[in-house]
Amino acid sequence: IHNLGDENSILNQFISEIRDSQIQKDSMRFRRNIERIGEVLGYEFSKALLYNSKNVETPLGVKSMDLIQDQVVICSILRAGLPLHQGLLNYFDTAENGFISAFRKHEGDEDDFEVIVNYFAAPSLEGKVLVLTDPMLATGRTLENVLEGLKKHGTPKQIHIVSVIGSQQGIEFVESVFPAQTHLWIAAIDPELNARGYILPGIGDAGDLAYG
Ligand code: PRP
Repeated sequence: IHNLGDENSILNQFISEIRDSQIQKDSMRFRRNIERIGEVLGYEFSKALLYNSKNVETPLGVKSMDLIQDQVVICSILRAGLPLHQGLLNYFDTAENGFISAFRKHEGDEDDFEVIVNYFAAPSLEGKVLVLTDPMLATGRTLENVLEGLKKHGTPKQIHIVSVIGSQQGIEFVESVFPAQTHLWIAAIDPELNARGYILPGIGDAGDLAYG
């Protein structure tokens, strides 16, 4: 687990703005902050990829540079994953992309829900680096269902989950269902989850804040 909000950095400015109940009402700013967090997390997780040296010809000579060798597939969970996806794509120019829908279907009680995954568009993941993005990791049940659905797309060599905010409980659950070598890159971890599956103090509902 790489909790990047643990360190003092400009990232904390973006996180505080998406948490702030006044500032977050500006949906354009909210989306842009999620995107900026995606850029920061993308930069951080790029350090965990495989690099290979290549010669680059400058106008005056040749320079050997270490460049990313892995084929990266960014798979985002709709809706709230979209701005985070864009942030990653701003840096990973040649990444392949996948989109998955997931929503909570409530059965009677507010706290009784099942996660429905019904749209899956993803390339082959065989031998590639899978980056799964979802800004909220509350109970972790969305990621569990998405992982199950992705199994028929092949076995990635490595999985990186990129998220903005998670609950301690959800993170522990995800750790128990994902392969042992999975990395989690997250901007903030909050202590509690309420009965409705909301992170406390959290940010509210990221999908609604971004898209109404
Ligand atoms: C939110 C969020 C995650 C999910 C996390 O989606 O964007 O996908 O809940 O919760 P979990 O860890 O408990 O599964 P939501 O169902 O609100 O859909 P939306 O993004 O379309 O608003």
